Amino acid sequence: MSENVQFAQQPAMTVTRIDVNLGPRSYPIFVGDQILPKAGELITSSMDVTHAVVITDSNVGPLYLETCQQALENEGIRVSSVTLPAGETTKSLRYAEELWNAMVDFRADRKTVVVALGGGVIGDLAGFIAATYARGLRLIQIPTSLLAQVDSSVGGKVGINLEKAKNMVGAFHQPSLVVIDVGTLRSLPPREYISGLAEVVKYGVILDAQFFQFLEENVTGIRNLDAQTLTTIIARCCRLKADVVEADEREETGYRAILNYGHTFAHAFETLTGYTSLLHGEAVAIGMTCAARLAASRNMFSREECERQTNLLKTLGLPTEAPPLSPNDVLACMQRDKKVQHGRLRLILPKRLGEVALVADVDPSEITAVLAPLPKN
Ligand SMILES: NC(=O)c1ccc[n+]([C@@H]2O[C@H](COP(=O)([O-])OP(=O)(O)OC[C@H]3O[C@@H](n4cnc5c(N)ncnc54)[C@H](O)[C@@H]3O)[C@@H](O)[C@H]2O)c1
Ligand SMILES: [Zn+2]
Repeated sequence: MSENVQFAQQPAMTVTRIDVNLGPRSYPIFVGDQILPKAGELITSSMDVTHAVVITDSNVGPLYLETCQQALENEGIRVSSVTLPAGETTKSLRYAEELWNAMVDFRADRKTVVVALGGGVIGDLAGFIAATYARGLRLIQIPTSLLAQVDSSVGGKVGINLEKAKNMVGAFHQPSLVVIDVGTLRSLPPREYISGLAEVVKYGVILDAQFFQFLEENVTGIRNLDAQTLTTIIARCCRLKADVVEADEREETGYRAILNYGHTFAHAFETLTGYTSLLHGEAVAIGMTCAARLAASRNMFSREECERQTNLLKTLGLPTEAPPLSPNDVLACMQRDKKVQHGRLRLILPKRLGEVALVADVDPSEITAVLAPLPKN
């Protein structure tokens, strides 16, 4: 359940609160428009903080670091900050080491809080620092990209890339608090915003048909970054992700795998295109389309609902056709994916909007069939 918290001052500001219930690792997520200036109050109302190290990147820092720093200092928190180059290559051992050393210079101690102000790259890297420095510090996520707001800031997976393997070194380290200011999305490059919408649609398909319908009915609000629409959508995604994480925090029961809907295809597209031409969400949108078509061809998902998914993705500006790659290369890449067991492909496939199943006996010919472009009509 989410609840609304009304601030006393004028103008009225509504903050939606979502609680992630993980016993001693439980934490609140606050979602609202223009709530970054209130981050200090939100933090001190639920935890005791005297020193914060804010980690951000070269795109987000110039836009939001000062507001964030002021918000924390207003509550009497000593603030240190580091601004790193923007981009995936920053999520590396080199920058982790720079940050560990900076923590020493900042006289960080066990009571210091690490604040991740940025997209998923900063969230994962700063989270990794929080998980490791001094054997673990508290982490506050202030995600500023749509992908980070609906996905990476919630759930506790933190880590860095190796040159040979993405996300290979990391930890489960839940944040102590998440502050989501949906207003920050207005400065996000439009392509990044649209890409993040693929994960939003994903939640509807895997878990919540009503939410899927809400998305269909609110395309204009989504496109215009309407504050209320964004708050509703992002809070719902966080609740849905929290439900999955609460049921399978450390990916032990297999349930958390439903979040990988569309991702086995997507990872192959990303790998084979060298992570250059497609953003992650774009690859996921195509992957979801392939997975839905595959499910429809097995008669486990209706053609009509498959069309609804494709139409929603397209209306939101996402791609749905596979890039010009050899279907056999895509298949070979998918077979190397870590989710494959004994050479057999296991895919999350939709049964109906709002429900998916893990299918363990997918035949390679079913994969190559859905990779062929659809005939134009
Ligand atoms: N931990 C998890 O559970 C999890 C889940 C999904 C993805 N991820 C990771 O997240 C990363 C991708 O995250 P991302 O898509 O946010 O990438 P990102 O952090 O690189 O952000 C995308 C771009 O947008 C910029 N940006 C972010 N917020 C902005 C804002 N408000 N205004 C202007 N520019 C802004 C960034 O500087 C960057 O250039 C990957 O490394 C991926 O592995 C982690
Ligand atoms: Zn994803």
